[in-house]
Amino acid sequence: MNQPFLTLQEIDEVVAVIGTRTAQKPRIGLILGSGLGDLAESIQNPDIIPYAELPHWPTSTVWGHAGRLVIGTLENQPVLVMQGRIHFYEGISMSQATLPVRVMQRLGIEIIIVTNAAGAIHPDYAPGDLMLITDHLNFVGMAGFNPLIGPNMNEFGLRFPDMSQAYDRALNTLARQAAKEHNITLHEGIYVGLSGPSFETPADLRFLRLAGADAVGMSTVPEVTVARHGNLRVLGISGISNKANLDGNTTTTHEEVLEAGKMMVPKLEKIIRSVLRSL
Ligand code: HPA
Repeated sequence: MNQPFLTLQEIDEVVAVIGTRTAQKPRIGLILGSGLGDLAESIQNPDIIPYAELPHWPTSTVWGHAGRLVIGTLENQPVLVMQGRIHFYEGISMSQATLPVRVMQRLGIEIIIVTNAAGAIHPDYAPGDLMLITDHLNFVGMAGFNPLIGPNMNEFGLRFPDMSQAYDRALNTLARQAAKEHNITLHEGIYVGLSGPSFETPADLRFLRLAGADAVGMSTVPEVTVARHGNLRVLGISGISNKANLDGNTTTTHEEVLEAGKMMVPKLEKIIRSVLRSL
């Protein structure tokens, strides 16, 4: 499903409503993935807007996603936090799934920090680990579901945007330094974005490994594509929630993904706080 395409006017209707609910001017957007939403509890002076109160905003049906915007400060930086995201597999269009990024762009946000829960394909990754996303494989896009399909929105960017440096090198450096400072192991690798909602078969996973993927998930790639179209700088971090099941001998559940998320929040918070302090 890739219709409908949201218009600039619809995007600006969301921006207008946010303007009536907060006087804060966020500079950094933070998208919190499955099980990682607790990070939003650390935001100071929060103005909270449930997704259901925003026009055109898709609302999530998946538990583990609180579904609200939290606008406030973290390490003295004005941030807008998406506590929970809405996924393509819920049956919305790519344009709807990436509306939050468009809204961030119209709000004047310059940097987004995108997090997700992901399955480990790399054999050395274990649940609870973090991975800096240095690049991604856009499998959903290759299958014909790129969020930029449709009329190009010239206000944001070019028809054929460059994706050679999707993940910002300077931000990656800050994340590496932050991890080092706190003695946190931060793997670096390639995230592959699939549509879900079914988890992968062992054959899927062996194929993805051959293709060069280190971690697999059901989000992030469309958001990053739209972010880069509008020239936002992106930092991406995956929280490894489970070992992908390459041998077919273990199963993967959503509960497991949420449980591991809780374990990772303190580490993720340390890295994000430290990156924010250096900006
Ligand atoms: N596969 C796909 N998406 C995921 C996984 C996984 O194993 N874990 C968390 N999100």
